[in-house]
Amino acid sequence: MTSNSVPTLRGHPLWGSLMDFNRDSLSLIESAARCGDLVRIRFGPMQGYFVNHPDAVCKVLAARSKSFRKPAVVKRALSDILGENIFTSNGAAWKRSRQALQPAFHLRHVERYTQVMIESIEREMRDWRAGQVVDLEAAMIRVTMNIIVKTMFDADLGSHADELTGVFTRLFHLAYKRMAFYALLPNWLPTRANREVKRLAAELRALLRSYIAEWRAGRAGEAALLNLALAPADGRPSMSDEQLINEAITIIGAGYETTAYTLVFTWLALMQNPPVADRVYAEVAESIGTRALTLADLPKLNYAERVVKEALRLYPSAWGLSRSTLEPVDIAGATLPRNSMVLVSPWTLGRDARWFPDPLRFDPDRHMPALAASIPHYAYIPFGGGGRTCLGIRFALMEAVIVIASIAQRFRLTPTPESATGPKSVAFTLRPNGPLRVNLWPLSDHAGASPEADPRPAASAINTSVLSLCPVHRVR
Ligand code: HEM
Repeated sequence: MTSNSVPTLRGHPLWGSLMDFNRDSLSLIESAARCGDLVRIRFGPMQGYFVNHPDAVCKVLAARSKSFRKPAVVKRALSDILGENIFTSNGAAWKRSRQALQPAFHLRHVERYTQVMIESIEREMRDWRAGQVVDLEAAMIRVTMNIIVKTMFDADLGSHADELTGVFTRLFHLAYKRMAFYALLPNWLPTRANREVKRLAAELRALLRSYIAEWRAGRAGEAALLNLALAPADGRPSMSDEQLINEAITIIGAGYETTAYTLVFTWLALMQNPPVADRVYAEVAESIGTRALTLADLPKLNYAERVVKEALRLYPSAWGLSRSTLEPVDIAGATLPRNSMVLVSPWTLGRDARWFPDPLRFDPDRHMPALAASIPHYAYIPFGGGGRTCLGIRFALMEAVIVIASIAQRFRLTPTPESATGPKSVAFTLRPNGPLRVNLWPLSDHAGASPEADPRPAASAINTSVLSLCPVHRVR
């Protein structure tokens, strides 16, 4: 099959599916998934290919990964924020970054960060009292930001965590808007948005430069992530300060929001599935009780970890991964031309009944080793796959389990009436479709006065598109 015989998602004659994608990306990729495992999508002047079969996804991310690179449009949208960095670079530059940073994410090092993780969630919960309402989204963002900055630089953000997340959120929002319109305007044009990016990026770089100066002066503890990754063996710095700032912004950006929203959706799923929540509470009560959690407790929290993994299946915070072809590549029976954009989605793969029977059921036991073995490898990719698999998998899973267990040691949560019921896509990540404010209940009340399961139906996850039929036409 040539690329011309690949079904094409019906779109506007001029801009194709670009506007639909910008309006509601999840609905658009669900429409594409209903059309087949390889579907062409037109984004204005560019051709994109949506790839939705695990074997083909394996080719893109792993088996033929040398024939792909991160798309130029992503790199360009982020270039004046992140510069050259592990997330957007390709080839030798990517390899250098990956080799420099990878050692710090080895399991034995990640385990050193558990104390920071425990202290951060404990600090966040210090003022939590049963009977209160808490903004769970804001709390999880604060906790994950504090954790990543403390582990990386051994620096305490204290009350500045909200400011820093504000800068990141705004910067990535502006970058996404650039991408959404295909970076039609160059970054140097002095538009209001470009000037704002410049100002915020300069502020952020100045802050990180001050942390790096402290680190270079030897004031960070030896467990700081940067020490583990970049301790100069021969006394010479292994990365320039500017390169280090690029990597630091990337790791903070890649690490705090994805984990925060994984926690938000894990709690949403627990509140909507009381029997699952009961098992988490029982596991935490049996294995830790009310004493302080430690690293030694983590292997006992198997069910909590499966819950997080299941939340990542249904609510993968990085819902779409993109690449572009460096040369013609044979995928799913067609030859994709050079410079084609390729889109892969952990969201559609994780909700596909071929790989996950009864896909919308929240069932953590799918991730029991015996059952997980039957899931095709590239059907479950919330952390990506191949050589560019997320560097922070262990960090994120450990952090999520610690935060869930720490909260479950103290409180039951129920959503307030106006709270979110499911996800929507915003920029690079999935977000709740409304605020997520929760009531805190004492554990001891649970037997008698257990908050009822949230009676509202979870937002339909698949088939949210208004299009009921496959909106496809074939190009001859
Ligand atoms: C639940 C939380 C997280 C999710 C769902 C997630 C997801 C992902 C995904 C899907 C990718 C691959 C992107 C692609 O192939 O285009 C990725 C890459 C990456 N992630 Fe994560 N991530 C999470 C947490 C973290 C954390 C905590 C860190 C660091 C502390 C981190 C650091 C990175 C880095 C550096 C990359 C780039 C790897 C490379 O290109 O070589 N992530 N992440």
